[in-house]
Amino acid sequence: MKVMEAILNRRSIRRFTDKPIAKEDITSLLRAAMMGPTARNCQEWEFVVVRDKATFKKITSVHPYAQMLAQADCAIVVCGNTQREHAPGYWMADCGAATQNILLAATALGIGSVWLGVYPNQDRMDGLSAILGLPPHVKPLNIIALGYPNEKKEEVDRFDPAKIHLEKW
Ligand SMILES: Cc1cc2nc3c(=O)[nH]c(=O)nc-3n(C[C@H](O)[C@H](O)[C@H](O)COP(=O)(O)O)c2cc1C
Repeated sequence: MKVMEAILNRRSIRRFTDKPIAKEDITSLLRAAMMGPTARNCQEWEFVVVRDKATFKKITSVHPYAQMLAQADCAIVVCGNTQREHAPGYWMADCGAATQNILLAATALGIGSVWLGVYPNQDRMDGLSAILGLPPHVKPLNIIALGYPNEKKEEVDRFDPAKIHLEKW
């Protein structure tokens, strides 16, 4: 799939089939993540790959909008290692770029995905950190739920010329 096609076809998928995702495909998603840009090339990302249904259940108890994990085959928790970032706050941008790479790579592989926001909600961050045993300097940005799609999204075109400001506001 061409990059533009993946960008235009990516949608949040919240219903999944039982088909498991091959380990090599998970590795491809993580390879895509780690090709993202980072400030000063710090690459301060860390990824927790979760496939244990019992852990999914625990996560839904600390994240109110993550119920689709019950059907997901895999989740990648994208975290920032604040001991390695270029300057305070860069981890969010860097890990956001890595996240988008995962979402686009998943689309290209026919895998459905949805970004479940964690940062900056302190309760979700604390709850998730406790469940996954994250050290204090490692901050969870989001959870990406993954699985083969069991829903079809209508095509949308969000292009809006009113959002574009030429030369000045
Ligand atoms: C920062 C962020 C947090 C999000 N959190 C959730 C979430 O907790 N649960 C969920 O189902 N979707 C979540 N989403 C997905 C958005 O709802 C979705 O991207 C948006 O509605 C646009 O739809 P699309 O992804 O299909 O284009 C989140 C997306 C972002 C970028």
